[in-house]
Amino acid sequence: MEKLVIEGGKPLEGEVTVSGAKNSALPILAATLLAEGECRIDNVPDLVDINTMIDLLRMLGAEAERTPAGTLVLRSADSSLVTAPYDLVSKMRASICVLGPLIARRGKARVSMPGGCAIGVRPIDLHLKGLKALGADIKLDKGYVTASADRLRGAEVYLGGPAGSSVTGTANVLMAAALAEGDTVIENAACEPEVADLANFLNAMGARIEGIGSPRLAVRGVETLKGCSYSVIPDRIEAGTLMAAAAITNGDVLVSNAVPEHLGAVIFKMREIGIDVERDPRGGLRVKAPTRFSASDVTTLPYPGFPTDMQAQMTSLLSLAEGISLVSDKIYPDRFMHVPEMIRMGAEIRKDGGSVIIKGVQFLTGAEVMASDLRASAGLVLAGLIARGETEVHRIYHMDRGYEKLEVKLERLGARVRRAEE
Ligand code: EPZ
Repeated sequence: MEKLVIEGGKPLEGEVTVSGAKNSALPILAATLLAEGECRIDNVPDLVDINTMIDLLRMLGAEAERTPAGTLVLRSADSSLVTAPYDLVSKMRASICVLGPLIARRGKARVSMPGGCAIGVRPIDLHLKGLKALGADIKLDKGYVTASADRLRGAEVYLGGPAGSSVTGTANVLMAAALAEGDTVIENAACEPEVADLANFLNAMGARIEGIGSPRLAVRGVETLKGCSYSVIPDRIEAGTLMAAAAITNGDVLVSNAVPEHLGAVIFKMREIGIDVERDPRGGLRVKAPTRFSASDVTTLPYPGFPTDMQAQMTSLLSLAEGISLVSDKIYPDRFMHVPEMIRMGAEIRKDGGSVIIKGVQFLTGAEVMASDLRASAGLVLAGLIARGETEVHRIYHMDRGYEKLEVKLERLGARVRRAEE
């Protein structure tokens, strides 16, 4: 296993570009199962989770390879393989995104239930409700979802759950509806930019989806979808993470391909606590931070609310803000595994149900800390970038699931960080 060793205190300066969006690329790769012919997808980040999805697609009969230029070329032979096994799905929850395409294109699917993870229970009841509404016959059998349908039929589907919409739930139902017979309306659809990216990809394959980016998606089913070329949007969470790295180190950084329209809530919150975030005339977002920023309250909500995937990073920032902050995660109330580790670095944080109360401190002190999940690892790296002395972030395989060479990007901005064997 590997760790990151960080010498804190260096303000980050310069320009950085983010990789393609993990949470777009994953459902888009699953959607290639719907296509006849070849899909050529650009800007797919080189991540552990992406490689896991490629492995899964190959187990489902797809051919996949990256060209020297980095384009991912996929051909999905119409094979009889329809099983997504437990050992793979339990590694990566987003594997559930093959469920809709398999039912729609091959008429059957056997996909392991994803199970829980460090950030929460992660149910899939909304996925199954939506697919059943389209006519799929679904059973749960020994931890697997077994599904079948001769031809899916369009329907009106409501996908609101206890925490609002579901991102991959919307993705699964949308992909299935694209090949269903007749019209489908998805109410309370997720509006995340990654869902819009998937919808645009499906339309590029010949789907007929309207209302993209809105909570009401209207789909007119088609007979076939054709392979196409497509480029994935930049990763807004990586952009937000690098913006937070600039802010926490009182630096001055241009994230050159950040899409401001995807980061409204994050930009607002950063400005609210005193961080200067400006659109750069050449595109992207420029972040300049004062030596001290003020406290604020943050509540995570479905898009366009503040993203839960930026909660750990914001918690890190606010641990050094002047005053008392309240951070509530309405999406994953237990997504605070980074907090005990930050406390070991001197942060003053108290968990109270699905929230944490943060009393800003003057400084953090470097320590050996342990990553527990993808975004917790990002929060700990940020804390290490500003902490006095050396921080070692252990188990950074969590970070490698969703960040492409994050330490290289940080080093190019002046951070004193290196990857080392445990
Ligand atoms: C997606 O997960 C993202 N992953 C997550 O990013 C992200 O945190 C999450 O959306 C919320 O934005 C991918 O896109 C691959 P949800 P997903 O279904 O789709 C409840 C990261 O760090 N729910 O939108 O699994 C659920 O418990 C990852 O990159 C149901 O109740 O999340 C949660 O409280 C982590 N029933 C809320 O909805 C369901 O059937 C949102 O979950 C599905 C979800």
